[in-house]
Amino acid sequence: MEKTYLDILKPDDWHVHLREGDILSRVLPFTYNNFGSALVMPNLDNPVTNISLAETYYAEICRQIPKGIKFTPHMTLYLTNYLNKDEIKRVSNHQYIKAIKMYPKGATTNSDSGISNVIEFYPLFEAMEKNEVILSIHGEVTDENVDVFEREKIFIERVLTKVINNFPNLRIVLEHITSADAVRFIKKHKNISATITNHHLMVNRNIMLSKGIRPDFYCAPILKTEHDRLALVQAAISGNCKFFLGTDSAPHVNSKKIAACGCAGIFSSPLAIPLLIQLFEEHGSLSNIEKFISKNGREFYGMKQQEERVQYIKKSKSINTIKNIETIEGKIAVFNPFKDLYWEKANEV
Ligand code: NCD
Ligand code: ZN
Repeated sequence: MEKTYLDILKPDDWHVHLREGDILSRVLPFTYNNFGSALVMPNLDNPVTNISLAETYYAEICRQIPKGIKFTPHMTLYLTNYLNKDEIKRVSNHQYIKAIKMYPKGATTNSDSGISNVIEFYPLFEAMEKNEVILSIHGEVTDENVDVFEREKIFIERVLTKVINNFPNLRIVLEHITSADAVRFIKKHKNISATITNHHLMVNRNIMLSKGIRPDFYCAPILKTEHDRLALVQAAISGNCKFFLGTDSAPHVNSKKIAACGCAGIFSSPLAIPLLIQLFEEHGSLSNIEKFISKNGREFYGMKQQEERVQYIKKSKSINTIKNIETIEGKIAVFNPFKDLYWEKANEV
């Protein structure tokens, strides 16, 4: 019989961009209403490069969470030369800083402070390995000689394989994986897991480019082929504990995205969970969705499972969905690639 009700442990978002100021206050409710916790990325205009900056950013976020809402922000630090072994040791004992994020310089939004030569950071990786601090990686090379669709694959071959061989006990999350190659790599190596986004599970590069350009689907790492998308879907619906949800929800106002040089990033937190439920349902895998969105990430980050549960209901007619949110700087489009969406959070009915 068709399932029309889903009761699951409250999900977590293991990769989100909340920004600052007005945009933060506009996007944050979609995260604290839909997720029990979220790992907040550090690529602000002034990157979060040390514990003190992370604590200030954390306080700014917490100030905006209404009393009565149970939501935990987990923070990240931006890996730069300013980090040292002492700071890493302090991160290992920190209450809410859960990972250090490595951006290759120039790979994506606000990555100018990112790294150029990974070998320079080996002493810090050694400290992270020793102190059991998690390394979160944007896995793309930025070499202009490498085709944009190959950048993840080449990163895995040229950079990640070496890091793993040199630091076999370093715990790594390869963020927002996009390809069948990445899925294969993650499955093969221990101590490395991966986040997968909604958009990489739901759209491919043909949809983005073949019937008129869709800047709203432009993100880093760029969407890959249908074959890659299906490999990601298989990884997510399998329930394999190495794969978990990181929406990579990354708001940019429409005027900056739908522009001559539009920026990378897709705002997906408002409809992320209903879309995923529908995807898992279409693949006959609803029984595994809790692993992908609620359990596997917590297990990797060594946290006890959520206690709160949430309920979703399937409507008989497609629901009206939010299309945009308003901010001082303009509208931000909400990701929804499906023609019809039927699932809704129970208390929103
Ligand atoms: C992100 C952003 O806008 O901050 N953009 C994106 O396309 N994913 C940064 C990132 O995670 O690469
Ligand atoms: Zn991101």
